[in-house]
Amino acid sequence: MFDTSSVQHVGVIGAGYVGLTTATGMHHLGHRVTLVDIDSERIATIRRGVCPLREPELGPLLNAGLEDGRLSATTDSSALATCDTVFVCVPTPTGADDDVDLNAVDGAVALLRGLLPRGAVVAVKSTVPVGTTSRIAASLNDYGIAAVSNPEFLRESHAVHDFLHPDRIVVGASDDTSAQRVADLYTALHAPILRMDTASAELAKYASNAFLGVKASYVNAMAEICDDVGADIRCVEDVMAADPRIGPAFLRPGPGWGGSCLPKDTKALLSSTRSTTAASLLRASLDVNAAQVGRVVDKIRATTNGDLRGRRIGLLGLAFKAGTSDTRDSPALAIAAGLAQAGALLTAYDPGVTATVAVDGVNVVDDPYLVAKDAAVVVVLTEWDEFRELDWSVMGDLSRTRAVVDMRNILDHSALMANGFHVATNGTVPS
Ligand code: UGA
Repeated sequence: MFDTSSVQHVGVIGAGYVGLTTATGMHHLGHRVTLVDIDSERIATIRRGVCPLREPELGPLLNAGLEDGRLSATTDSSALATCDTVFVCVPTPTGADDDVDLNAVDGAVALLRGLLPRGAVVAVKSTVPVGTTSRIAASLNDYGIAAVSNPEFLRESHAVHDFLHPDRIVVGASDDTSAQRVADLYTALHAPILRMDTASAELAKYASNAFLGVKASYVNAMAEICDDVGADIRCVEDVMAADPRIGPAFLRPGPGWGGSCLPKDTKALLSSTRSTTAASLLRASLDVNAAQVGRVVDKIRATTNGDLRGRRIGLLGLAFKAGTSDTRDSPALAIAAGLAQAGALLTAYDPGVTATVAVDGVNVVDDPYLVAKDAAVVVVLTEWDEFRELDWSVMGDLSRTRAVVDMRNILDHSALMANGFHVATNGTVPS
């Protein structure tokens, strides 16, 4: 299956969901892989064959690599000394003034300077501002090491699938030899390779994530209009989705968009471009998303006769989307904070978040029915299938008022209403 002439020794720095997926995916494609992370506990877990992330298919891929001995994990960066290509997959969190904190990226590159052999390539997968890869290339030039931008497009909870079935592989480089080295790593995937300069590759990543934020803000704004005028967002979505210029993806309204990437990357792009007209568009996208928190709190308040003080509210979902335990920048947490501030008493359940996780002002439980107990209203914030399958007549019996706010529009609203529930939706017409 593999062209053995293009088999490389690949290094990966960073064992988060991007790094671990890249490491196990590269091994799956036939390469020898060394994964390095400074977190010794995480590396020990990985070496035991235990996948530290809730990520479908990642565990088996990891174990396949450990078992055949061609994937190793270590905290010792000197193990990268014989690598042909090293991927940098470390976090790039928001820094001061919403710019990007590049300390982890710079630290990773510093490890490689003088360690990698001449002719090696550093491939930057971390999402970095335009200009970063060329700055890294300049700092490695004297050591005979090249730097290439190879942004990732992996969704959390679909990371392995996205790695193995990419829509496109972006390779930004200033020279053809190093671009080809990185492109060769992916040969077995038969995916389109988009070859460009480093600045375009870096910007393409931000442009993609920021566009997804704009799209999700737009659909949430349309859902708000639907609420106001009595239209149904599901019909509006169907019409928009049927137009190939728009497409069906990312058109589901929700409590707001979150996670560790979209909000961070939109803010970073905005911070890099404050004086351009793009800034007003990006700012509007973030503003609509921020306002969504107040819109959800108001919707919940309306179901409790205008007063949230002392009211028990049950929250279904804390993660920023279904399929993950990740609560980073989750709209559910912002909404919980808004409700707590208004004096509500909160109980929450999320299939991905254990009851031992501390969330300010929220009693996190490990049984969804506890969320309904004596609740003035139960609110769906994350689109887990499990919430659809709950016995809603039991939920209704446990709650005081049989009131539901479904911000993801995933429940069977007509069945609930037939069961005596008062249902508030996100821009749909319950019938
Ligand atoms: C996002 C991008 O989708 C990936 O392509 C990218 O590689 C990744 O960021 C990254 O930069 O690493 P992810 O953060 O896993 O992936 O989350 P998404 O699946 O994109 O969802 C983001 C947010 O949008 C979630 O809060 C989700 O609930 C919300 N969303 C999504 C909606 O509200 N409506 C939709 O129709 C779709």
